Amino acid sequence: MAAALRLGIAGLGTVGVGVVRIIRRQAEMLSMRTGRDIVISAVSARDASKDRGVPLGDYAWESDPVALAQRDDVDVFVELMGGSDGAAKDATEAALAAGKDVVTANKALLALHGTALAEAAEAAGRVIRFEAAVAGGIPVIKSLTEGLAGNEITRVMGVMNGTCNYILTRMENAGLPYDTVFQEAADLGYLEADPTLDVGGIDAAHKLALLSAIAFGTKPNFDGIAIEGIERVSIDDIRQAADMGYRIKLLGVAQQSARGLEQSMQPCLVPASSPLGQLEGGTNMVVIEGDAVDQIVLRGPGAGEGPTASAVMGDICDLARGLHIPTFGQPAATLKAAPAATAALPAPYYLRLTLADKPGALAKLASALGQAGVSINRMRQYAHDASEAPVLIVTHKCTRDALDSALAALAASDVVLSQPVALRIEDL
Ligand code: NAP
Ligand code: HSE
Repeated sequence: MAAALRLGIAGLGTVGVGVVRIIRRQAEMLSMRTGRDIVISAVSARDASKDRGVPLGDYAWESDPVALAQRDDVDVFVELMGGSDGAAKDATEAALAAGKDVVTANKALLALHGTALAEAAEAAGRVIRFEAAVAGGIPVIKSLTEGLAGNEITRVMGVMNGTCNYILTRMENAGLPYDTVFQEAADLGYLEADPTLDVGGIDAAHKLALLSAIAFGTKPNFDGIAIEGIERVSIDDIRQAADMGYRIKLLGVAQQSARGLEQSMQPCLVPASSPLGQLEGGTNMVVIEGDAVDQIVLRGPGAGEGPTASAVMGDICDLARGLHIPTFGQPAATLKAAPAATAALPAPYYLRLTLADKPGALAKLASALGQAGVSINRMRQYAHDASEAPVLIVTHKCTRDALDSALAALAASDVVLSQPVALRIEDL
C-alpha cells in the first residue's frame, strides 16, 4: 500500500468537524477506495480549549494556520476557515509555496483571488480543489471537469444559496412577509455571520464565478456579475408570480456569447412546473447545458456539516488516488479574461411600481416604456386607498438595456414613488 496521505486541517467549525468525523468513522473504507490511508497530522482553529464534540487528542495542534500549512508531515492543506482574505489566503499561499496541494470550501477566497492562486498552484506543481465551495454536497465541479469534459458548455445556471431559497419558498408556502421569514432564518442559524452575503446574492455570485470559470475556461470574474439580492422581493410579488404560473428564485445564469461572458445572479420568475420552480427549502440545483449532452440537472443539499464535508472528502480522495486536475479544469495560463456583458437575449420582465395616484400617471408610465421600445403584455392595478397606486406589469420580450432606459426615464419623472422591482422571466 502507498504511503498515507497526511492532512493538515485549518478550521474546526461546522465543515472542519464534519471532515474529522468522516475520516475517523470511515478510515477503512477510505483506505480501500483510495489504496492508501488518509490520516490527520495536525489541526488548527482559534480556540484550543473549545469542546468540538470530536476527539482531537491524536492530532498536533497549531495555533497558526500558516505554520500548519508548512508542516513537513502535511501533504494536503485543508482550508476550512473561510473569508476571502486574512488567515485563509495567507495559509493557502503558504501551503502552495511549501509544495502542498490544497482542498478548500471557501468560495469567497477563490472567487476573488482564484486566478492568482491557480497560477501559484501551477508554479508549485500543485492543485487547489474546491468541490465544497459550490452547491455544498452536489458534485458539480467534478461533473464539469470530468463527466462533461467532452462538452462545450453553453450555459450553467442554478439556485446556489439555500438560505435565499428557504426564505422565498417559506414566504410563499406560509404567506409570510420577507422580514418575518428573514428573522426565522436567523433564528434557525441559516444566515452567514454577515447576512448580506446570503440575501444580497453575494455568496451565490461567488459560486457562480467559480462555475463560469470551469465551464467556459475563463478567469473567475466576480466583478463582472450583475448581482441583485432578494431583499426587495415582496409577498405580493410572490403571489402575483404564482398567479401567472411562476415562482421566484434567486437564479444564477452564466453563458458566453459573442458579446462576452454574461453572468447574473438575481431574483427571476421561473415556471412553477420546471425543475427549478419545484425546488423547495434550502436545497440547491444546478442546470448544465452542453453541446453534446444537452441538459443535465443536479439537485441536492447545498450546505450543512454532512453534505459539505462529503464534498471535501471527494477532493481528498481524488488527491489520495493521484488525480491532479488543474484548479479550474485547464492550465491557469490558458484561462481567458472574458469581458463582462449584460444579457443580450430579450426576455419578458415582471415589474412592480408604486405610482403617484394622480391624473396622467399611468399615461407617463406607458409612454416611458413605449419610448424605450418596451411593450406591455399584461397589467394589473390593485385596489388601494392611499395616494400610492401599486401597479404590476408583465412586458413582452425586451432587452435589459431597453428596460433600464425606461426605468431611468421613470426615475426622473414625478410619477414613480419608489424604486421599481424588475424581475426577468426565464422560460426554462
Ligand atoms: P465556521 O463554523 O465558522 O468555522 C470556522 C472555523 O475556522 C472555526 O473553527 C474557527 O475557529 C476557524 N478559524 C477562523 N479563523 C481562524 C484563524 N484566523 N485561525 C485559525 N482558525 C480560524 O465555518 P464553516 O461553516 O465550517 O465554514 C468553513 C468554510 O466552508 C467557509 O469557507 C464556508 O464558506 C465554507 N462552506 C460552509 C458551508 C456550511 O454549510 N457551513 C457550506 C459550504 C461552504 P474557532 O472555532 O476556534 O473560532
Ligand atoms: N450560506 C450558504 C447558503 C451556505 O445558504 O447556501 C452554503 O454555502
